[in-house]
Amino acid sequence: MTAVLPQALTAPAVVHHPDAADGPWWRDAVIYQVYPRSFADGNGDGIGDLPGITARLGHLAALGVDAVWLSPFYRSPQADAGYDVADYRDVDPLFGTLADFDALLARAHDLGLRVVVDLVPNHTSDEHAWFAEALRTPPGSPERARYLFRDGRGPDGSLPPNNWDSIFGGPAWTRLTPEQHGVDDGQWYLHLFDSKQPDLDWTNPEVRAEFEDVLRFWLDRGVDGFRVDVAHGMVKADGLPDWDGHVSMIEGSDDGDAADPADAVSGSGNQGPMFDQDGVHEIYRSWRAVLDEYDGDRMLVAEAWVEPLSRLARYVRPDEMHQAFNFAFLATGWDAPALRRVIAASYAVNDSVGAPTTWVLSNHDVVRHHSRLGLPDPTSRPNGIGAADEQPDEELGLRRGRAATLLLLGLPGSAYLYQGEELGLPEHTALDDALRQDPAYFRTGGAELGRDGCRVPLPWSAQEPGFGYSATGDTWLPQPASWAAYAADAQDGVPGSTLELYRAALRLRRAEGLGTGGAAWEPAYDGQDHVIAVRNGDVLVVANLGSAPVPLPDGAELLLASGLPGDAPAGAELPADTTVWLRTR
Ligand code: GLC
Ligand code: CA
Repeated sequence: MTAVLPQALTAPAVVHHPDAADGPWWRDAVIYQVYPRSFADGNGDGIGDLPGITARLGHLAALGVDAVWLSPFYRSPQADAGYDVADYRDVDPLFGTLADFDALLARAHDLGLRVVVDLVPNHTSDEHAWFAEALRTPPGSPERARYLFRDGRGPDGSLPPNNWDSIFGGPAWTRLTPEQHGVDDGQWYLHLFDSKQPDLDWTNPEVRAEFEDVLRFWLDRGVDGFRVDVAHGMVKADGLPDWDGHVSMIEGSDDGDAADPADAVSGSGNQGPMFDQDGVHEIYRSWRAVLDEYDGDRMLVAEAWVEPLSRLARYVRPDEMHQAFNFAFLATGWDAPALRRVIAASYAVNDSVGAPTTWVLSNHDVVRHHSRLGLPDPTSRPNGIGAADEQPDEELGLRRGRAATLLLLGLPGSAYLYQGEELGLPEHTALDDALRQDPAYFRTGGAELGRDGCRVPLPWSAQEPGFGYSATGDTWLPQPASWAAYAADAQDGVPGSTLELYRAALRLRRAEGLGTGGAAWEPAYDGQDHVIAVRNGDVLVVANLGSAPVPLPDGAELLLASGLPGDAPAGAELPADTTVWLRTR
């Protein structure tokens, strides 16, 4: 072994101090996102459901995660795959019944898994009882005041009340018409997303009371927490002023200023009049008070596409939410200096409010990271990839994806995994456009392909029709034939498979207490720009994002390596696009 590195590993640059090992469960939890329509189908109609999930919970227990977050399964016309809720207190028949939910929760708890459900408070479905009541009553009625109805501009009110665009494309306003709505007063309603997702008016006390009651409904049933959808969008600036910025969930706008060093690493703000208004924090304080009435460390996690990180940290102040997804990390790509800056800034801002960081690389809204990292520019962040687009390099993406995951799981804090990433699943990058369902595809006239490619039903069994996702072989979106190799049963017990890598990482993470550990830059790698080397207790996490191998310290015990099966084992040197966990004392 070459002794290229200095052996004195003293005075590392601390970026985060260890947490109490006996703190609340969510501080270091690994939380697995289940997207119900695509996880497992229990009744053979091709759409995943709650009984299907319950039957497969053993997979999650064996994987070694702490909790499951379920994307929406509530009553919904499915205009945005359930993020358009018609009844917050019932299960959509597509997914089962409330009794099926109770059975899922009981089974999960028996297996030691916590359950977090999705809360969608920014908007309801246009098929929610409240919206129907609003259409039945005149402008100015209390029923309309639950939403954001306004008169139009121009002499005949035929221009929208302001110039906002919908995040899914097209205008953010729809005018009521006799034909479509049975209403002839010509008012407009605001929808930051699809026209079937009218925004609620969160200045209305009735709206606030209703959602506190919805929280209690699910807390009483025993859920362990809530993932809060569009947590940065619920309050709009007074007067709904025009805005010329670009409305996007996944990119910041350019109108902020970057005085704070943490701001410089994570964008310059996403502060249009519909995002990140100070008023949202009052709502979360009231929700926190509701959760605090319950035992069992119930939690709230914010989906807030807020920049910079210092603004995001405001959502996790001690009397607000518990966690917020770290999308700055997700968006950074494959760039060691940039990742080091995001990691350091994340700890700095979160530690300043006493909250854990919450690492994430994939979810149901972004191109899967095993494919994203195989794109020529992993920061290009396309909203979907189609057959006509440049295709990601599948092997490179998987190699980097596994390395990125091993980096993420080696860092203290909480971590979110998206279903299928434990199989190394790539994005479906050649879906037939005729099968697409994401409203963003339709509202942009196909300019954005949308998120269907990361929502394809999971492959469980290589040899079965539909890869074992449903008994009939039906799948609501087709699975690529190449997914046979990614099926769970094809990887189970196979040394070096992605599934076994994730299992081993989660086992070690727990055994070594990495989630509650500290983080310090390893001085031996100072000046090696393409390396991220973090000491977490006795474990040294080293990721090589460069193109040439780098030396590893003498005498270190190799605990785990992210390299693909068939790679030369990491020994004295760490190959390109690989992460290792070492024990060095
Ligand atoms: C969140 C969800 C996304 C949904 C949107 C509107 O961003 O993650 O899937 O389309 O909110 O509810
Ligand atoms: Ca089904």
